[in-house]
Amino acid sequence: MKILSIETSCDETAVSLVEASGDFPSATYQIRGNALFSQVDIHREYGGVFPALAKREHAATLVPMTIKALKDADNLEESAQKVSTETKAKIKKLLEREPGLAEKVLDFTEQHSNPEIDLIAVTAGPGLEPALWVGVNFAKALGILWNTPVVGVNHMEGHVLASVFSGEKLADVQFPALSLLISGGHTELIKISDWQHYEKIGQTRDDAVGEAFDKVARLLGLPYPGGPEISRLAQEFRNNYLNNDLNHYLNNYIKLPRPMLESGDLDFSFSGLKTAVRYAVEGKDLSEKEKQAIACEFENAAAEVLLKKTEQAVNEHDIKSLILGGGVSANQYLRQTFTDFFQTEYPEVTLYLPDPKLSTDNSVMIALAGHARAKSALLPATAISEIVASGNRSLAEE
Ligand code: KG4
Ligand code: ZN
Repeated sequence: MKILSIETSCDETAVSLVEASGDFPSATYQIRGNALFSQVDIHREYGGVFPALAKREHAATLVPMTIKALKDADNLEESAQKVSTETKAKIKKLLEREPGLAEKVLDFTEQHSNPEIDLIAVTAGPGLEPALWVGVNFAKALGILWNTPVVGVNHMEGHVLASVFSGEKLADVQFPALSLLISGGHTELIKISDWQHYEKIGQTRDDAVGEAFDKVARLLGLPYPGGPEISRLAQEFRNNYLNNDLNHYLNNYIKLPRPMLESGDLDFSFSGLKTAVRYAVEGKDLSEKEKQAIACEFENAAAEVLLKKTEQAVNEHDIKSLILGGGVSANQYLRQTFTDFFQTEYPEVTLYLPDPKLSTDNSVMIALAGHARAKSALLPATAISEIVASGNRSLAEE
């Protein structure tokens, strides 16, 4: 089955062509084409993602990304064809709120023969709603023009599947599994009793951990997205001031709280941590060493809370597999901390970490989630018109 997948939930415009042979979850997946445009440079001057701009950029970039993914896959031929006036009107109506997109889609369709696609998978949530709608409406338009089924998928299910994807296969995950999903919009613990049976057992009560990384970076005068920047500074600190010196300096200079460690439940809170950093930096002209120390202590605090809560969930729910997913799981220190701890303390639990290239938002993960949901999408009664984008779509309701 050839799956065209589309991701526009935040600030990446991504399109892939993935070929699945076999049934989910034991299929072999070959990535035939993979195109991604990151809007990071555009949003940097705003210090975060600016939704109206994200929407406009997705609308401008979706067709070129689709062409690139299909060309990479050798699945696109130039050839003139006529779209009926009636269909044109339908596409224009569907895309009336996505400036310029209808014309681009229709030009593209009229200049190429229909590619061989069995299913179009598109992120339908969670994410920034205006950004999601561009992708969803674009997928619907292609579905109508190519007469191809469309499935709306959950972005977080994509992150989970990306984390267990390696060497063209999904791992043979033993259940119950636990997923710690950490991104710019989410921090949650999901218990997975089997594929597609998800239960949220813990979540942040305020900021997501990625958001905290981004805000702390801003307080330190670092550019967006802050996660990789904080990680870099923290690592410099660890490299420069190893062992005793490091702990001594941290203890004397800055000690941040470990929020919610004693709460008893599996919830998180990161806004207090960010506020503590604000107090530590406000009105000060920090030296490079001081900035590095704050980044390091912040990363230590975030990692410690994530680790302890995850350990608690592993114990309480008799977990056999632990899956880290979402943009923050690209963090090298966090990956090492989880690997070392679980290897030593819980060798019977299998830990899955995403390939760093698939940690942050991408469309390969959307193809995997689309394949997981393919059966329902292929039912004759499934109507494209029923797919809606939803900013706070939850994995627990899938
Ligand atoms: O999953 P993702 O790409 O987009 C969302 O769905 O939110 O995650 C983006 C988040 C941002 O907050 C970014 O700062 C964070 O992931 N991030 C990191 C790292 N790389 C990305 N956080 C910590 N360390 C990193 N290396
Ligand atoms: Zn994401």
